[in-house]
Amino acid sequence: MSTWSIFLNNEKRIVHKWKHYFPIYDAFFSRYINRPHMFMEIGCGQGGSLQLWKNALGPHAQIVGIDIRPECKKLEEDQIAVRIGSQADDAFLADVLEEFGSPDIVLDDGSHIMRDIYASFAFLYPRMSPTGIYMVEDLHTAYWNEYGGGVRREGSFIETIKRFIDELNADHTRGVVAPTDFTRSTLGIHLYDSVCVFEKGRTLNKSALKIGKL
Ligand SMILES: C[S@@+](CC[C@H](N)C(=O)[O-])C[C@H]1O[C@@H](n2cnc3c(N)ncnc32)[C@H](O)[C@@H]1O
Repeated sequence: MSTWSIFLNNEKRIVHKWKHYFPIYDAFFSRYINRPHMFMEIGCGQGGSLQLWKNALGPHAQIVGIDIRPECKKLEEDQIAVRIGSQADDAFLADVLEEFGSPDIVLDDGSHIMRDIYASFAFLYPRMSPTGIYMVEDLHTAYWNEYGGGVRREGSFIETIKRFIDELNADHTRGVVAPTDFTRSTLGIHLYDSVCVFEKGRTLNKSALKIGKL
């Protein structure tokens, strides 16, 4: 069942998502349905999204929500664990990974503040599954001053993504951009209105082929 159908029929805890995100969820998360995996959502809200992932992804999904509000602990149920701490706290994130293992999926729906988005990404991306999915949503805040954003403002996560685009293509920049761990561990960057999806994976052999008959 699509995440959109589950959302529309939701009678459990409140979920708060933009409508146009649902096809993106299905495009990247459906490969995990009924497979054992760890899904980390940063920002629990009222708990409905944690239940949405559990319902959509099946009985082998371990959902881990993290949030700074201690009351979120009450959102725990079978398959859903909640840990209290900040997305920008490396020691806290390390403890969560120690307990649950490397995430296969990270969905950042936390503070939406630029420095927090970057801090979580910098810590979690290298430590997650080498074929995982890292999704940041509500990136419209990258254009808003009060979140540390602004159009073409240094430090906004949209500007960071622009640099990652160059790193992804570093092998083709004739030495101008040095390949990084990001270059070697990323298959794709998918950008939508307010959402960025980083698709991890290693390109084994980059080569341009010509196959066929004249
Ligand atoms: C937009 S709500 C999450 C909504 C929820 N994911 C949903 O879809 O229904 C944002 C959440 O992030 C939490 N939050 C804010 N700052 C945080 C931080 N530094 N670390 C972790 N969580 C944070 C808030 O307490 C709030 O519960």
